[in-house]
Amino acid sequence: MDNLIAPHGSRLVELLAGEERASEMREQSRDWPSVDLNRRQLCDLELLLNGAFSPLDRYMGSTEYAAVCDGMRLPDGTLWPLPVTLDVAAETAAELEPGGTLALRDEEGVMIAAVHVDEVWQPDRAAELHALFGTADPAHPGVAQHLHRTHPWAVAGRVEGVRLPVHYDYRELRLSPSEVRRKFRRLGWRRVLAFQTHRVIHRGQQAMMMEAAQEAGASLLIHPVVGLNLPGDVDHYTRVRCYQALMPHFPKFLARLNLLPMAVRGGGAREALLHALVHKNYGCSHLMVDFDGAGSILETSGYPAYGQDEAMQLFAEHAEELGVRMVPAEERVFVEDRKRFVKVGDAPADSRVLRLDAEEIRRRLDDGRAIPEWFTLASVARELERTHPKRATQGFTVFLTGLSGSGKSTIANALRVKLLELGGRGVTLLDGDLVRKNLSSELGFSKEHRDLNIRRIGFVAAEIARAGGVAICAPIAPYDVVRREVREMSERCGGFILVHVATPLEVCEARDRKGMYAKARAGIIKEFTGISDPYEEPTDADVVIDTSHISPAEATREVLLYLESQGFISAPEED
Ligand code: PPS
Repeated sequence: MDNLIAPHGSRLVELLAGEERASEMREQSRDWPSVDLNRRQLCDLELLLNGAFSPLDRYMGSTEYAAVCDGMRLPDGTLWPLPVTLDVAAETAAELEPGGTLALRDEEGVMIAAVHVDEVWQPDRAAELHALFGTADPAHPGVAQHLHRTHPWAVAGRVEGVRLPVHYDYRELRLSPSEVRRKFRRLGWRRVLAFQTHRVIHRGQQAMMMEAAQEAGASLLIHPVVGLNLPGDVDHYTRVRCYQALMPHFPKFLARLNLLPMAVRGGGAREALLHALVHKNYGCSHLMVDFDGAGSILETSGYPAYGQDEAMQLFAEHAEELGVRMVPAEERVFVEDRKRFVKVGDAPADSRVLRLDAEEIRRRLDDGRAIPEWFTLASVARELERTHPKRATQGFTVFLTGLSGSGKSTIANALRVKLLELGGRGVTLLDGDLVRKNLSSELGFSKEHRDLNIRRIGFVAAEIARAGGVAICAPIAPYDVVRREVREMSERCGGFILVHVATPLEVCEARDRKGMYAKARAGIIKEFTGISDPYEEPTDADVVIDTSHISPAEATREVLLYLESQGFISAPEED
């Protein structure tokens, strides 16, 4: 007799075929069309195969899609808040027809499952976007992301699994719903509160979880999402090491850790409901969602994040058939003289209350300042410090942009020498001319080719910074959007400093060292930046230098002083 909450739709529907059938499918798949799934699609597939999406056994078609978007129900009446579809490119759709079979592979081509196709169709994404975000306005960041990353066609049909997607990391923490349920039974657990997060857990959240578990009379499943990282998230390897460091600090039989291979869709009450169904399938009777974390992607782009009030209301409306109770996550603050965490509203008026936000943690890590003990466990702080070394030892990119002849290469060369003189890091120069001879030798100067050139430079620079080195880039890089793209890519791997070498066109043209401006004026060189092609001035430069009236050494010194002020290097020597 099972005392755990029943799965959604009363039984777990796992879609993995037996060994014999699996090898038969592998054989037959040679004659089937196949697609390589991206990471987001693999996450959905894993949850279908391992039973976390029970009772779903298929990718939805147009009828289910409409029923779910309009009324949150599968055609048989089962509560289901969001569509689960398989999007494919037009070329794949053209190869398929009802009655056929499509092989699903991972990025390395390993066959994971087959879809027995019963519909090839084009979803009207507007309904889905409304369901998710309450709007289909492409200016909404969630909507834009969603539109950007989905193909226009969809394939519907029953899914038959060959194997679970391959993971090499933390395999012992990737239990399926049935394995988690087995574990709960062994531990004698009946009520289980799941805490779902994609952030590092600090003492405040730990206190909040323990209190909530006690109130609900439940044990705790810490269930971090490790499907896809959102921009700004700490990478999942670091997070998992932090969770592992935290686990021994729970009472021995109270808490367990498992990883949830789910791709977060973008926040929202309906998504919270989907999470509840998934957790129900894992055997959890209560759910607490770390909403601050889940909403942050929207908050940072100026859109209101979906709060838990909306989700609580949706949960209340479906309380009975859902069966899972939603427990509100209420922020805790540290009351200094009592040395304990309390809910924000419960702090005594006369006491000193301490709190730290994610930004401050980042700043402290950058500066090499300690994260206080009251905020996080020393072992968790150590893990964060290990992955995020202080700026003085981080890799970084100095990206110089400006017109031809503005002085970028001269500064870049001088900067390289000064940094080598300081020592401690390898320094790589990716000068415009140099890159065009090697990395981008086949490219011309159309907007498309220039953007591609800058993306390549950005990619290489980010890899250099990731490995702890310094990349100095000095292309013209005339377009703002792609410069920002490079910044985003680089900041994930280390520091990024944009230097605008803002020497005016007249000065650059008067210098005309290579005689190119004269040729451009004469129309011999086409699409020449500043003459017959645009240069978009950066509005996000960290350093702006006009070399009209200063020497290369002075210009270089300005960059060095900025690097010092940001903690990347120690004081440059005076010449
Ligand atoms: S970009 O726009 O960032 O991809 O350009 P970049 O790779 O920095 O290459 C600029 C150098 O190529 C020479 N060159 C031209 N520049 C601009 N427009 C046109 N049409 C062009 N054709 C050749 C020019 O010498 C640039 O060198 P620098 O070192 O900037 O003077």
